[in-house]
Amino acid sequence: MPLKLTVPMDSTSIELDEFNEVLKQNKYDFRNQDQIPEIARYFNQLNNNKKFLVNFLSDQLKSFHSSAKCDFIAPNAFVLYKKKRYKIRAVIWEPRPNLESLENNIDFEVCHDHNFDLLTAGYFGPGYKTRCYSYNSLQINGTLNERVNMIPEGTFSLSEGELLFYRSKHDIHIQIPPDSLSVSLNCIFNDKVDIPQYQFCEKTHKICRYLHSSKSEFLIRLSGVVGDQNFVDPLFSILNNNGSMHQKAYAAKAITQIVPYERRQVEEIISNFKNPLLQDLFKREELKIGSTYDSTADC
Ligand SMILES: [Fe+2]
Repeated sequence: MPLKLTVPMDSTSIELDEFNEVLKQNKYDFRNQDQIPEIARYFNQLNNNKKFLVNFLSDQLKSFHSSAKCDFIAPNAFVLYKKKRYKIRAVIWEPRPNLESLENNIDFEVCHDHNFDLLTAGYFGPGYKTRCYSYNSLQINGTLNERVNMIPEGTFSLSEGELLFYRSKHDIHIQIPPDSLSVSLNCIFNDKVDIPQYQFCEKTHKICRYLHSSKSEFLIRLSGVVGDQNFVDPLFSILNNNGSMHQKAYAAKAITQIVPYERRQVEEIISNFKNPLLQDLFKREELKIGSTYDSTADC
């Protein structure tokens, strides 16, 4: 199950600056999951502060016509603080009476994992409900249509004051809209942007979609479409040296678009890696550039 964190009864309220300072002073290692409960203790204290978000929004409204607006990553989510090691964001969850209108919506009714660790707290309202599963990413290739051993872990509510910790490429969840408008605070760290988030079919337990392509993937695919000869050497370098199978596959396709006579060499390189994910991704990219969905895996 996602770690349902129980922090000691603590009504202490701290400011965002204080939270950041505590993390800095204690030199917490975000990769060490044993330290998450300690980080959660201070995150809970930040979550107790019901003024800092109001003040943040007030500042945003006051500077509404300037260019210094906050970083909205979606209409319902914005970044409050961003550093290399972690970022803090607030997410607004609206009650939605009509789930049919939510097709392809990442927020609700999409069964997904994360490619980052996520510590989250219910800040305001009854909070979304979430059905959870876990899986072992070391036991899969990560190909579309691949069946995953999804272990049911129960349903939780992120009501005000509750804390959950979703582990990167380990926890899977599907969010159900809250009964009334709710806000959660997120602390995100250990991004692995080279591995996409997966969407799973809850009935077939198969990976049916890659979510949120990275900027690097767009860049590689764009280079294939633009098709300048100067792109070929850097693309071969990505194919040969990059650690991401996704980026390798898209580079391979881009090369064959720009210089079709290099196809045999590209296929040989891919074959030599002996990696089922790389082979599958290249095959799919050959059939359809930008392919991220397999309808046969979905239900
Ligand atoms: Fe999620």
